[in-house]
Amino acid sequence: MSDCIKVEQLSVRFSDVPVLDHLSFEVPEGMIFGLLGPSGAGKTTLIKVLTGQLCQNEGRAELFGRDTRRLTAAEHGKIGAMLDNCGLYERLSVYENLSFYADIYHISHRVIPDILKSVGLYKARKTAVSKLSKGMAGRLSLARALMNEAKLLFLDEPTSGLDPVTTREIHDILLEQRRKGTTIFLTSHNMFEVGSICDYVILLHKGNIIERGRPVDLCRKYDHLNKLHITLTDDTELTLDNSSASAPAIKEYLEQNRIRSIHSSEPTLETVFVELTGKGLQ
Ligand SMILES: Nc1ncnc2c1ncn2[C@@H]1O[C@H](COP(=O)(O)OP(=O)(O)OP(=O)(O)O)[C@@H](O)[C@H]1O
Ligand SMILES: [Mg+2]
Repeated sequence: MSDCIKVEQLSVRFSDVPVLDHLSFEVPEGMIFGLLGPSGAGKTTLIKVLTGQLCQNEGRAELFGRDTRRLTAAEHGKIGAMLDNCGLYERLSVYENLSFYADIYHISHRVIPDILKSVGLYKARKTAVSKLSKGMAGRLSLARALMNEAKLLFLDEPTSGLDPVTTREIHDILLEQRRKGTTIFLTSHNMFEVGSICDYVILLHKGNIIERGRPVDLCRKYDHLNKLHITLTDDTELTLDNSSASAPAIKEYLEQNRIRSIHSSEPTLETVFVELTGKGLQ
């Protein structure tokens, strides 16, 4: 498996303020790669560098082996992007938006109906974008990113602000894309999204990579954060470490018949983030 994206010591500054700070990572072909971080972490800036929209970086960023500052039309043709400012034409219909895009990038219009069906917008193809719900507009942006059958998709917060049903539909589309061999680079501040669909994740905080790994491995690595939440019969709530050190106290409560409920909370990516930064993802 070769790397689609390779980043080495990548830094970006805006007016001398570091926004990305010596990042190094690789994204192998065919995976869903998640960049998880709160607002202002530098996620969109990184996508802009990787897609060649921002060229003022130090260090190296490569797509398909080429410096992102010098991407050719052929490489641009292999990528699809759905950015947070979705850039749709409000007065044009759903279909017209895609056909306009197809004309610019010399893509056959014949692919449009199937793509609209795959994102569930075929019936709404004649509706003006200004009349779409947020979820439908999100799916149209995704449809546009899928138009050129890209090998590599960049999705900047693809489900931000969408309801759980639309989010699930978008996840299904992404999983189907991965099945076809597409590599997906997505950003999110939703740990559930990253935990459920990403094969690998980077946690980004203030332009620095603070942790990386498969979501399941990261949660396991921080298993010392696993807690037991106990409610006693007099409504007292206790949080104890989920370890043998808590056994004597629990034994005593059990012998006194004082436990109403007991739950364990396994670490999530949010717990990991809070442990490393003292702050949550939202
Ligand atoms: N063109 C710019 N000029 C100056 N500062 C910028 C510019 N673009 C981004 N920044 C700053 O860089 C930092 C990272 O911004 P970025 O948009 O990459 O964050 P993000 O992780 O995408 O956040 P969000 O989740 O809110 O989209 C922020 O502090 C932002 O203010
Ligand atoms: Mg952003």
